Amino acid sequence: MTADVAYREIDDAFSAAETNAALADLTEERRAALHEYWLARADGELTTALAFEFMLDDLVQESVPSSVSELARNAIGEEHRHVDYCLAWARRVDPSRPAEAHFHGTRPHGFDGASDHDNRLLRTVFGGCFSETIAVHVLRASHLRIQVESVRRLNQQHLKEEVLHARLGWALAGWDGLTPRDRSMIATYVPEMARLARDLWLSTSRTGDAILDGLGYLPSDLVRVACDEALDGATFPGLDACGIR
Ligand SMILES: [Fe+2]
Ligand SMILES: [Fe+2]
Repeated sequence: MTADVAYREIDDAFSAAETNAALADLTEERRAALHEYWLARADGELTTALAFEFMLDDLVQESVPSSVSELARNAIGEEHRHVDYCLAWARRVDPSRPAEAHFHGTRPHGFDGASDHDNRLLRTVFGGCFSETIAVHVLRASHLRIQVESVRRLNQQHLKEEVLHARLGWALAGWDGLTPRDRSMIATYVPEMARLARDLWLSTSRTGDAILDGLGYLPSDLVRVACDEALDGATFPGLDACGIR
């Protein structure tokens, strides 16, 4: 199924009776929490879209193969569509409140003591092998709790695209254009990247319940466990396998 078809089906599911019924049953507290959550998520997706623009510039400057930079180019559009759908869902949850996305920051991240070249590599390793790899684990864990078909479809499509975004980091980590010095430089930043990823993913404390989680809410307990699983089960061993140690 193409992404356009998947999103059309999500639109249809958003307007279905099952979604209406699930939203009609919400208490005002849950509605406000869910609305706030999807707006915050839209902010994160928008900031990520910009981060992929920086990564694309970085990767072109580093002369990576076009198959790798293409992943970054595609990710920009995909993240913008994630923003649109987070906002659409926020409006569906509460049409009476405004729904807009805002950037968390508008400058490329610079790692302590890293040269320009180092930062160009580190930003994509961080974005793909850390943040997006965590996103995959978080959305996969959320999938098991989602009860409403429209949100399940939305989550499924986002999950599918976050896998592609994570793959960008892994494509760079495994690229034979990295020198032994690049690999050991990246290795020295692994603790800092792990800390930064946890800070980003756990910046807001959220307590969910079966109803909220069933509508795609991401409570902190789920995010914390998924973060650990991603880092310990995929990121650290994956980097090690790429000679980044
Ligand atoms: Fe996303
Ligand atoms: Fe992503």
